[in-house]
Amino acid sequence: MIEEIASKIPLLKPIKAIFPSSVLFGVGCIESLGEEAKNLGASRALLIVDPVVAKLGVAEQAKLSLEKQQISVEIFDGVEPEPHIETVHKTTQIVRRGNFDIVVGIGGGSTMDVAKATSVVAANPGTIEDYIGFGKVKRRSSLILSPTTAGTGSEVSAFFVLTKDGYKTLTFSPKVPPDVAIIDPMLTITMPPKVTAGSGFDALSHAIESILSVDSNEYTEMFAFKAIELIGKYFKTAFYQGWNIEARRAMSMAAFIVGFAFSVTGLVIGHGAAMRLGEVLHLPHGEACGLCLPYAMEFNIPVAAEKLAKVAEVLGVDTRGLSHEEAARKAAKTVKSLVEEFGLKSSLKEYGVKKEDIEKLVADFLERSTAEIKWNPRTITKENLTKFYEKMWEGNI
Ligand SMILES: [Fe+2]
Repeated sequence: MIEEIASKIPLLKPIKAIFPSSVLFGVGCIESLGEEAKNLGASRALLIVDPVVAKLGVAEQAKLSLEKQQISVEIFDGVEPEPHIETVHKTTQIVRRGNFDIVVGIGGGSTMDVAKATSVVAANPGTIEDYIGFGKVKRRSSLILSPTTAGTGSEVSAFFVLTKDGYKTLTFSPKVPPDVAIIDPMLTITMPPKVTAGSGFDALSHAIESILSVDSNEYTEMFAFKAIELIGKYFKTAFYQGWNIEARRAMSMAAFIVGFAFSVTGLVIGHGAAMRLGEVLHLPHGEACGLCLPYAMEFNIPVAAEKLAKVAEVLGVDTRGLSHEEAARKAAKTVKSLVEEFGLKSSLKEYGVKKEDIEKLVADFLERSTAEIKWNPRTITKENLTKFYEKMWEGNI
């Protein structure tokens, strides 16, 4: 009975906080990789990176750190952006054939997600398809993750996303976060401005959408609002001065801490739409998040104006003399302006989407973004979702 009531009232819902076993954060901390792996009892490591990370020498540096601790290393550098499940089939063969006892993933969200999935199949029978979905992962092999972007929060979150037959699949389990997350802001310093922008909008979406979620609470909001404050203060500096380590550090911190929030709250209409648009337009995830976020904020004003007004204030928007609704709208417009300032597209028509395609986008969303429908505070219907996409098509909020 109590459980039934609690499930309907957000503040009575039990909170399950999900963490990696430990986190190292700071400039230069990637040097501890070998030591951390040794502490986990590792002797053979499969190091998963993307080709860019491999080229920048980060993979080589990581390999040396592991070998210094007498850990043998094989490198897999075949992770593509928005990774396909076939990539995990490849790493499955490698990890099982090589008898590896630890998986290390260094890269953006795609690389870390492939590393997470590989650590699952390393410790379980079958294929990764057997573990996709909610709560199916019961164990994994040892896992260390280290991000080279500041956005996904995948280094600490309980999710991973893989593309199968053109569709994005979501896996969630409290067993998914790694044994150790090593977050070294120096690894993000070579990110080009466009990647800095996309990944920053991903982190900002996680924060704002986590606050909007029906499962948001004081614990998650503590992380999410702090992340918004850091992003508000440092996003532009990180974009315009890539070398500015203070800004890079702040963006890494924001992306990391908000991972604790959305692992509990899930995400709402913005990510629901961004995932589906990523499939159709083959957009990098962060770019899709930047496109959708202002409209996601605007969509929820009728039920979350006060929360969004607080988001505006924390983001650094001047809200003096404005009602909650006006402040919330100004926050959405500010985010949209920032998307445009950073050279990203802020409407569907700019991406070449036709107005008549909206019907299909709505149908796809209703069929496949079921988790985000559940978490979104405003009830999503075919009618209001169509309006949401029409506004996004027009670029009008
Ligand atoms: Fe995301």
